[in-house]
Amino acid sequence: MTTERLQLRRWRESDREPFARLNADPRVMEFLPRALSRDESNGLVDRIETHFEEHGFGLYAAELVEDRSFIGYIGLAVPRFTAHFTPCVEIGWRLALEHWGRGLATEGAREIVRYAFGELGLRELVSFTVPGNLRSRRVMEKLAMTHSPADDFDHPGLPEGDPLRRHVLYRLRKIA
Ligand SMILES: CC(C)(COP(=O)(O)OP(=O)(O)OC[C@H]1O[C@@H](n2cnc3c(N)ncnc32)[C@H](O)[C@@H]1OP(=O)(O)O)[C@@H](O)C(=O)NCCC(=O)NCCS
Repeated sequence: MTTERLQLRRWRESDREPFARLNADPRVMEFLPRALSRDESNGLVDRIETHFEEHGFGLYAAELVEDRSFIGYIGLAVPRFTAHFTPCVEIGWRLALEHWGRGLATEGAREIVRYAFGELGLRELVSFTVPGNLRSRRVMEKLAMTHSPADDFDHPGLPEGDPLRRHVLYRLRKIA
């Protein structure tokens, strides 16, 4: 998939290095449980690849059209945990800090929404994060996703008492 400034594509071996760098950056990982080691980052790429093979879609590697550099991911994921809104398809994003604030996540995500509701024929997308991740919530809002406090949930992957456990859920339904 291509937008004005981004190409969203399957992963290449050469993406692993810049992906490990952004996963090691505490600013990028501020609202996630922890920064990742190189091995953990590579393990995540492997899981993303497996997800593509299982579902035919996934978290796409995001590349700048301008200079072909890898800047992170934007795409879709089927959560493996169980919650009141699962099974579902999540839309998500993670970009290297130096590329924040230029509308790139929203630009790529809009294309993903078109693809999900068009080619994939999905009826609903969700997205979730911790309440304090205002940047990510803003992207959700710009996609016209809606938040209902009754949907907020405790992430089952995190232990009771963990400050990142509480999550807000946003939904976007395909307009028939
Ligand atoms: C979330 C993320 C992908 C956003 O990328 P981005 O390309 O900067 O996003 P956009 O530029 O499309 O939109 C960001 C919006 O947040 C706003 N924003 C930035 N900092 C903000 C802050 N501190 N408080 C509130 N809003 C903020 C921006 O102004 C912009 O909104 P606007 O267009 O209305 O002005 C990026 O910050 C990131 O990778 N974060 C770390 C990983 C992460 O948290 N992923 C989500 C996990 S659920």
